[in-house]
Amino acid sequence: MAVLIASAWPAAASTTTAAAQPAAACQRRCGDVDIPYPFGIGRGCYLYTGEGDVTFGLTCNRTADGSYRPFCWEYEVLDVSLRRGQARVRNDINRWCYNATTRSMDAESTWWWDVSDSWFHVSDEGNRLVVVGCNSLAYVTSVNETEYMTGCMATCPSVGRLENGSCSGMGCCEAAIPRGINSYVVGFEEKFNTTSGAVGRCSYAVVVEAASFEFRTTYVTTGDFVESTGGKVPLVLDWVVGKKTCREARRNATGYMCVSRDSECVDSRNGPGYLCNCSAGFEGNPYLLDGCQDINECEDSRFKYPCSVPGTCINTPGGFRCSCPDKTTGNAYFGTCEAKKSQLGVHIAIGTPYAL
Ligand SMILES: *[C@@H]1O[C@H](CO)[C@@H](O)[C@H](O)[C@H]1NC(C)=O
Ligand SMILES: *[C@@H]1O[C@H](CO)[C@@H](O)[C@H](O)[C@H]1NC(C)=O
Ligand SMILES: *[C@@H]1O[C@H](CO)[C@@H](O)[C@H](O)[C@H]1NC(C)=O
Ligand SMILES: *[C@@H]1O[C@H](CO)[C@@H](O)[C@H](O)[C@H]1NC(C)=O
Ligand SMILES: *[C@@H]1O[C@H](CO)[C@@H](O)[C@H](O)[C@H]1NC(C)=O
Ligand SMILES: *[C@@H]1O[C@H](CO)[C@@H](O)[C@H](O)[C@H]1NC(C)=O
Ligand SMILES: *[C@@H]1O[C@H](CO)[C@@H](O)[C@H](O)[C@H]1NC(C)=O
Repeated sequence: MAVLIASAWPAAASTTTAAAQPAAACQRRCGDVDIPYPFGIGRGCYLYTGEGDVTFGLTCNRTADGSYRPFCWEYEVLDVSLRRGQARVRNDINRWCYNATTRSMDAESTWWWDVSDSWFHVSDEGNRLVVVGCNSLAYVTSVNETEYMTGCMATCPSVGRLENGSCSGMGCCEAAIPRGINSYVVGFEEKFNTTSGAVGRCSYAVVVEAASFEFRTTYVTTGDFVESTGGKVPLVLDWVVGKKTCREARRNATGYMCVSRDSECVDSRNGPGYLCNCSAGFEGNPYLLDGCQDINECEDSRFKYPCSVPGTCINTPGGFRCSCPDKTTGNAYFGTCEAKKSQLGVHIAIGTPYAL
């Protein structure tokens, strides 16, 4: 209710009843990446989540290749989706390699991943644990190993049977990760190692965006998994803009984030908290006053023309209508507009009583 009042009184009422709004002058792009509120760069430009705040405040840093890229802590942010409530970051591939000098297996990368101080969760729907190798059993566990553990084993009974694009145990395996986690540790089981030297010196394990990972046989045969990806792959994070449920959040208009008219609150399915979304037929940023704008379905080139009779679409807030052209009647959605019964006939029918 407060949201409706706010939008009717944009200047005065909104600033006192809605959640704080970012300054108009904020930088909204870093390199090629758009940074929509609640994310932002610099004070007053992002949603502050409190002490030890790490979720929405990004830095725009110049990287080794001279380009500018956004970072959230040490994680490079690839993109942000308001609609899905997700951000993609670059995640390190963990390596477990045989060292011929010391004749032992060495970990050559980080083992921990931890954003437990943030309003992020690792997306269970968007990611998989992927293990690449020929005699490798790797897993992810909670930091204290008591909450969960999941993993898989990759073997290569015959290198000739490895297949590009197939991650089902041969040279590559994958496992679903649990819902609601924001930290994990990657481990390799020591009984399985690459010391036999059949193929490759290293095994790899990483939590990676399922849609962006495709197994290549060369990851095993020439060990180019790290080289071909730069050692980093995308990881999908789900975020929330408050830790309460929608029901609780709506009760206190001061902190309620869904400030745009034509927006709605959505409970996060991955961990506690809520998100906002533009209502059906609207798009834009639900976290900004008037951020959700009507989609003109009649003219938007992303959609197929929605009516079956050309020239009959009428845009409406949140939708559209198909209306038969003048002098015709029927259903323009299904293309059944037909000329109205002869004007003359109608005239006579009405006129007759007068004539009598
Ligand atoms: C980005 O730049 C800031 C300011 O120079 C620095 O403090 C921070 O460590 C840098 N972050 C990364 C990930 O390089
Ligand atoms: C937001 O709405 C769109 C369709 O209007 C839907 O596809 C999307 O899943 C919604 N996002 C969330 C986080 O519920
Ligand atoms: C093997 O281990 C030694 C001693 O720790 C180290 O100096 C060397 O760089 C390692 N070799 C490789 C290939 O990692
Ligand atoms: C490799 O695995 C074999 C068989 O499990 C084990 O005997 C050997 O000690 C392991 N080697 C290393 C370096 O971990
Ligand atoms: C493990 O960590 C979780 C989260 O920090 C905590 O809730 C749980 O009590 C811990 N379990 C043990 C046995 O320490
Ligand atoms: C898989 O694709 C790579 C190129 O990405 C190619 O070099 C390799 O031969 C292919 N492997 C098989 C088994 O076809
Ligand atoms: C409402 O939210 C604001 C901002 O988050 C907070 O300062 C205030 O204490 C909340 N009021 C109630 C009654 O919870």
